[in-house]
Amino acid sequence: MNFAPTEEQKMVREMVRKFSETQIKPIAAELDRTHRHPEEICRQLGEMGLMGVAVPTEYDGAGMDNVTYVMALIEISKACASCGVIASVNNSLYGYPVNAFGTEEQKKKFLAPVAGGKVEGCYALTESAAGSDAAALKCRAELKGDRYIVNGVKTFITSGNIARYCVLAATTDPARGYKAIINMIVDLKNTPGFKVGKVEEKMGILASGTAELIFEDAEVPVENLLGKPGQGFKQMLSGLDAGRIGIGAQACGIGRAALEDAVEYSRERIQFGKPIATFQAIQFKLADMATELDAAELMLLRAAWLEDNDLDFEKEAAMAKYYASDVAMRAAVEGVQIFGGYGYIKEYPAERHMRDAKICQIYEGTNEIQRIVVARKLIGLR
Ligand code: CAA
Repeated sequence: MNFAPTEEQKMVREMVRKFSETQIKPIAAELDRTHRHPEEICRQLGEMGLMGVAVPTEYDGAGMDNVTYVMALIEISKACASCGVIASVNNSLYGYPVNAFGTEEQKKKFLAPVAGGKVEGCYALTESAAGSDAAALKCRAELKGDRYIVNGVKTFITSGNIARYCVLAATTDPARGYKAIINMIVDLKNTPGFKVGKVEEKMGILASGTAELIFEDAEVPVENLLGKPGQGFKQMLSGLDAGRIGIGAQACGIGRAALEDAVEYSRERIQFGKPIATFQAIQFKLADMATELDAAELMLLRAAWLEDNDLDFEKEAAMAKYYASDVAMRAAVEGVQIFGGYGYIKEYPAERHMRDAKICQIYEGTNEIQRIVVARKLIGLR
């Protein structure tokens, strides 16, 4: 077994770390305060190949592996969790299914601009009555001639307000359950009958837009269908498996930021005549944060390695996602505690890490759903 990253992985990690520390971290508080979409960061991440890390170079991706993707996303998210989720959705929720199931023509037209970071992609699955129960979605796609006529409302769509393209999950017949679900690519800037609805006010990841997408007799050409009818739900679940590695990496990055800030603060903060880092009460917290984050990172790298080697990674991705996000939440809460009163005010980033970490336990499958995925594999129900 070899835990050493390759020269290329090390080089990319260093490059992303440097970029994130110098270009992203200094504006993270401003992005959080103003809720501004980090347009300039997205374009620069695109130029560095980080908006389509594992997408082949012929479709303007970086053609690298998922282990590198995890390393890069941890670094980006350590600097800014909102930038992390925008990159994760672009790479995984949009990039993965279009790359895995799209035709050559679809990839050239709809994948290359997103993987190259010129425009953003998003994934429209969730509805108000179809969250954990993804198969219950009601958004309807009726085939009329050479077009699907789409009617429905999607909620909580990450990057939905700024994305150019989305992979949209819809049903051709609600009575047929998951078997009637299809995925299609929609050009959100060029589809009459589509509009962005409410943009949500959230607790954290405030520079990442979370929007309602409204389809009213929206026409989508039949050639935008991904794969064949009947394959949509399985495409969706395998895309979510890949996406969960991305969210785990985002969580790990947030946890690492909480740890680094707490280490720095505890060295400087003097109480009872000494830096608080010299007290065991603080040391134990730091040690637990570091140990759990290391374990989470190793689990993420294992899941990514399995994916890179075309091995089943469904269980390992679910384990890594829920463990990393639980650990990140614990680290962020302990980070606030170490900062004491200063952890509760906006002058320091500790409170932002706590608000940002929480969503990682919820989106791309709640941590309860992840435990179900793991348990079903253990028991042999899948
Ligand atoms: N890959 C491929 N196929 C799979 C699969 C997988 N991981 N898991 C199940 N399947 C197949 C099954 O084998 C079954 O096929 P057969 O009937 O041919 O055997 C079919 O899919 C249906 O499976 P289930 O009956 O197990 O499906 P289910 O309705 O019980 O749902 C679930 C399973 C795991 C609970 C699923 O609904 C799920 O993952 N829910 C969570 C949804 C989710 O993650 N939403 C996140 C939204 S995106 C988001 O949050 C993005 C963001 O903002 C950042």
